[in-house]
Amino acid sequence: MGTKGREIVGMDVKKLLNLLNKAFADEWLAYYQYWLGAKVAKGPMKEAVIAELVQHATDELRHADMVSNRIIQLGGMPVMTPQDWYKMTNCGYDAPEDPEVGTLVKQNIKGEQCAIGVYKSMMEVTKDADPVTYNMALQILQDEVEHEEDLEALQEDIDLMLRRA
Ligand SMILES: [Fe+2]
Ligand SMILES: [Fe+2]
Repeated sequence: MGTKGREIVGMDVKKLLNLLNKAFADEWLAYYQYWLGAKVAKGPMKEAVIAELVQHATDELRHADMVSNRIIQLGGMPVMTPQDWYKMTNCGYDAPEDPEVGTLVKQNIKGEQCAIGVYKSMMEVTKDADPVTYNMALQILQDEVEHEEDLEALQEDIDLMLRRA
């Protein structure tokens, strides 16, 4: 725990740690949803979809790393068990039970839109209180916005292809 680093946080650190742990749980669930989706995906443009899902999985795991580092910097403890991911999550987990690419992409767009909301509100809460968390949330938000756009572009291509067929 960084003493001065924690001292300059102008808000309730416990409340902040709770927000961070909720986002941390989201990132693990998003990671697993993408990772598993990439394994089971079936259907048109499968290769392109798998490449995107794998890339996003890597990013979500990196986000989990960033958020956990901030939690530890603030003297907190990252969520200790996968059971607690479920209790803490904002965005939930959509199992890729239907492996059809269109369904997978749609599920993940929903997840990205939720994540965008989570980091946007984290930025609002920390704007004047905690520039370090604010900056982290901004970096992650930029990735999530890119993820949403990547998936929506893929969805468009899949729709076009299916309409032509
Ligand atoms: Fe993420
Ligand atoms: Fe994402």
